[in-house]
Amino acid sequence: MPIDNSNMLKVIEDFPQQCKTALELAKGMSVSGKIDKIVVAGMGGSAVGGDLLKAYIHNSNIPVFVVRDYKVPNFVDENTLVFAVSYSGNTEETISAYESAINKKAKSVAVTSGGKLGEMAKRAIKIPSGLQPRAALGYLFFPVLGVLVNSGVIDVKGKEIEEMLDVLSKTDEFKGVGERIAKKIGARTPLIYASELLSATAYRWKTQFNENSKTAAFHHAFPEMNHNEIVGYQRINKSDFIAIFIRDKDDNERIIKRMDITKEIISSRVDVEEVFTKGEYLLSRIFSGIYYGDFASYYLALANKIDPTPVAVIENLKKRLK
Ligand code: F6R
Repeated sequence: MPIDNSNMLKVIEDFPQQCKTALELAKGMSVSGKIDKIVVAGMGGSAVGGDLLKAYIHNSNIPVFVVRDYKVPNFVDENTLVFAVSYSGNTEETISAYESAINKKAKSVAVTSGGKLGEMAKRAIKIPSGLQPRAALGYLFFPVLGVLVNSGVIDVKGKEIEEMLDVLSKTDEFKGVGERIAKKIGARTPLIYASELLSATAYRWKTQFNENSKTAAFHHAFPEMNHNEIVGYQRINKSDFIAIFIRDKDDNERIIKRMDITKEIISSRVDVEEVFTKGEYLLSRIFSGIYYGDFASYYLALANKIDPTPVAVIENLKKRLK
């Protein structure tokens, strides 16, 4: 009996191509007028692109806020560009947040494969349907980036994109690391850590373990975990948990030191696995970090004899809420 009934493996393997296609989707779409804040409203697999955007443009003067709720905050106004991102276009929180943004006269762009949001949006980027939202991260992220570039809000250099596509194209390397980590995890609960800058990447690992592998997983960031979570290690066991550190070439020296010392401290209580992001540019490093985790969650699903694609409990919950 095949476990991967919907061929999630192929979808993950095709991710570099998905990013390439996605880069074209915002062509010709720009938003004019003053923009001094960016809001990304979405849930689950559709929201994480907002966290990644926030990390990617952390040096910009324009703040990014990610809203995973029914309403955008009060500060949203006509100078705010709100992206309402919902793969299905039918997520009630995102639709409601979008409506609240329109009421506040925000500038808006919807990113969706259709649904109600597709129908009601004044301006929308239509993305290909037929995937699980979490497997469509390229389609959900790059159109947002494209609109911001086209609108003169941010600048993304061609060489950043080229490097990212090149790094991701070495799929076998990511697969190999993902498979190795999945084997290491086994029946244990993964605890995933990265610097604050890459905490969204760690969060994506967590949610992919949840949804693909159907397993509990948690994430936290350095340095904050040194001020609380580390104490909890006093009472956990190697048989129950495993720590995964996502390391990055630009982790600052104090973070590197903290990670090294933390590893020493917690090694008596858990195994610690490390993954290094790839590339010179932040865009490559964010997405390479994610790509390892996507494969790790896939292989963990197979090891658990679980089909990685369906998320019945999410669907059932949504039905019960109707
Ligand atoms: C399922 C997934 C979920 C959805 C979330 C919101 O693959 O990743 O987290 O993304 O339930 O649904 P959409 O993305 O359709 O707005």
